[in-house]
Amino acid sequence: MPALSIIVPTYREAENLPRLCEQVHRIILGDHGIDYELLVVDDQSPDETVDVVEVLSKAYPVRLIQPAGRERDLSRSVIDGFREAAGDNIVVMDADLSHPVDKIPELLEVLQTGEGRLVLGSRYVAGGSFDRAWSFWRYLNSASATWLAAPLTSSRDPMTGFFALRRRDLPDLTALRPIGYKIALELMVRGGFQEIVEVPIGFRDRTIGESKMTLGQQFKYLRHLRRLYLYRYGGFAEFIHYGAVGASGFVVDIAFYYVLQFVGLDHRVARGVAFWPAVSWNWALNRLTTFGDRRRRPRTRQWIEFMLTSGIGFVLNWGVYVTLTSTIGFFDEFRILALVTGIVVASLFNFMAASLFVYSDRRA
Ligand code: GDD
Ligand code: MN
Repeated sequence: MPALSIIVPTYREAENLPRLCEQVHRIILGDHGIDYELLVVDDQSPDETVDVVEVLSKAYPVRLIQPAGRERDLSRSVIDGFREAAGDNIVVMDADLSHPVDKIPELLEVLQTGEGRLVLGSRYVAGGSFDRAWSFWRYLNSASATWLAAPLTSSRDPMTGFFALRRRDLPDLTALRPIGYKIALELMVRGGFQEIVEVPIGFRDRTIGESKMTLGQQFKYLRHLRRLYLYRYGGFAEFIHYGAVGASGFVVDIAFYYVLQFVGLDHRVARGVAFWPAVSWNWALNRLTTFGDRRRRPRTRQWIEFMLTSGIGFVLNWGVYVTLTSTIGFFDEFRILALVTGIVVASLFNFMAASLFVYSDRRA
């Protein structure tokens, strides 16, 4: 049994694997005398990966794992790797040499001292770095993804794909439900790893091949986050989510309210009309996201139910606005406050109606 299993999820990385194997072998076995196995978990790459690993396996302790019967997914590939790992220690890393191989011994050392059960290679602790070539946009993207996960973990770089743990500390793998890239975050939240140590690493952008991080992956991250928030915070997470959807609908509402007045509508009429696109927006978003895991009612039926309940909400919303602006001088002067009050009153009613009625079918 090797001391270390290195799990490398791959998709179209045939060109990077020889360099990775060479580095790992030279540094891990050669310089540090650590007996290892390297598991390439490949999601049916349409390139030479199979042949390349076949050749490499003659010179290095490399094994190809080709999971079948599921969608292509980085996190699920790592879990498949966990299942096959034979080493006492496990390291997960990317194939594209973004993660410094020579940091692996340091991750393992921290594991040995028992300081942490999950050791992350982190870009955002003192001494760590991300690629200088990163555009401001990419940095902002990474930073906001990290920020969105802040209430879930104290880690500075929960997005990392480079980490180590002991095999005997692996959680029940059937209980994990990640989607996309953030397997480390899944382990921290659902895997129950509390003692996390972060070792600074320099992240380098790949020089060969291209990243598989797409817009689709970013949406997967949002879905994954939602699962983790529900797991950690239950119904409260749902309420916050509903509130966030409402806030986005508020923007739609305001936009229509002003644009309609700009094209000449009376402010009271504008208020009444703007409400409809805004609430339709909320309905669709709640159906897709907030209550996305509830059983879906037929669209038309739900639309009608929605119309009925929001009709009441509408009367409340508009009624509060008109009543306040026509009876209280203060509100006529600061109409936006009357608008907000109308929205708050209607939202309370709408949330209850939504949760208890419109989206009430819980999945079995
Ligand atoms: N098996 C499998 N299935 N592997 C995949 C898949 C997949 O669907 N998608 C990507 N991979 C592999 C890649 O081949 C690579 O070895 C590794 O996962 C990382 O993919 P990249 O496409 O290189 O990701 P990245 O460089 O944009 O993202 C890396 O840095 C991020 C932080 O900036 C990863 O380490 C992320 O986990 C990390 O969040
Ligand atoms: Mn990469």
